[in-house]
Amino acid sequence: MNKTVSFKTLGCRLNLYETDSLASQFVQRGYKVDDDFENSNADILIINTCTITNQSDKKSREYISRAKRKGALVIVTGCMAEQYKQKLSSEEQIAFVVDNKHKNRIFDIVEAYLNGEFKTIDDFEGNVFNYQSAQNTFHTRSIIKVQDGCNNFCSYCIVPFVRGRAISRPIDDIIKNIKDELDFGFKEIVLTGVNISRYKYQGIDFEILVEKILEIPGEFRLRIASLEPDDYSDKFISLFKNSKLAPHIHLCLQSGSDTVLKRMRRTYSMSEFYGIVDRFRKIIPDFNFTTDIIVGFPNETEDEFQETISASKKIGFGHIHVFKYSRRKGTKADQMPNQVDEKIKNSRSKILRDLATELTNQNLKSMVGKYQTILTETIDKEGFIYGYGENYQRIKLKILNPKTNTFYKVKIVGIEGENLVGEVVE
Ligand code: 5AD
Ligand code: SF4
Repeated sequence: MNKTVSFKTLGCRLNLYETDSLASQFVQRGYKVDDDFENSNADILIINTCTITNQSDKKSREYISRAKRKGALVIVTGCMAEQYKQKLSSEEQIAFVVDNKHKNRIFDIVEAYLNGEFKTIDDFEGNVFNYQSAQNTFHTRSIIKVQDGCNNFCSYCIVPFVRGRAISRPIDDIIKNIKDELDFGFKEIVLTGVNISRYKYQGIDFEILVEKILEIPGEFRLRIASLEPDDYSDKFISLFKNSKLAPHIHLCLQSGSDTVLKRMRRTYSMSEFYGIVDRFRKIIPDFNFTTDIIVGFPNETEDEFQETISASKKIGFGHIHVFKYSRRKGTKADQMPNQVDEKIKNSRSKILRDLATELTNQNLKSMVGKYQTILTETIDKEGFIYGYGENYQRIKLKILNPKTNTFYKVKIVGIEGENLVGEVVE
């Protein structure tokens, strides 16, 4: 009987990429993958955890506890496992705690265990990039990891401690990974990492990397997942004139107040942030910026919070992921005085989330009458087909003989709930 494995992935896109790759490896070697982790009776349960906030720890913990009750071979990996390695290793129902460096060896560890040779992570050399190309993913876009780790040490952030220093993946590996994914039939590639604009491999920087990827032949779209505000060159910005490169970036703002940004140890001022937005929008007026914002950072005053509100309106973010500041042990901000009361954090979070919804709706409205190229993903019972346009807005279409994983040029004719409604024009 083939063994069954089930994965639970928490947190960021890097974790998704890593899970996809592991799942493909198990499938290739004859294992069955059960997508329904919650109800799974799989022989092997793998939880790929996150520790970005207390809430992420709590959620990771819940999935671990659930898995432990099932009597399966339980493996815990990811950033929360990295952070609480010792404690988790002492828990009896957890077979292996695998750090980020050895995550890509989980298959070998499981195989060895099932063959009666008990190996631990120390028997394998660590490498954060050696992941095989994913053929079986849990979603329609193909995520490609180009970089890992971060050297910024923003004062609130645990990531540099759990994912380590910045390291870039060799360009040949990246190109091969993307070509494999295009051969598997994927039409959208999403570049991912912790701080990818700092990509640097043997003299090749992020700009050259993107340029080289755009030169790969074939019908595909390239999306850059998340970027830190940086000194982008005009040449980099003009790459977005190429219709293969999606005019959408998740550009992390964190706060709209210069004084808070300083305490966060962010490396830009608000005027620099506005400068970046303007330069992109000069080339593509509808360029969609989405972002992450933290509310309730230590000593955030009402005035500072209001600066974040005005900045968000001024930029007109297509989407804001609102985080309530969460104290992380070992970070500078954890030691700062005047931690903000939970009640204030909750109310600021609600105010910003409401504004975010309003801004998203304004953005959707501004798209009516314009054109997008949708990559179709899912069909509902009534025959409507859904997918995302290049601006990363969800579009609903009704067409005869709908096909998934296909590009269609559409005119946006209206809005329905959170979706744009499109009509095929070619
Ligand atoms: N508290 C709240 N949010 C945080 N983030 C990172 N660290 C913290 C923290 N301590 C958010 C940032 C980052 C996103 C991935 O998580 O907004 O961009
Ligand atoms: Fe964390 Fe800042 Fe690095 Fe992003 S840039 S991972 S927020 S330290």
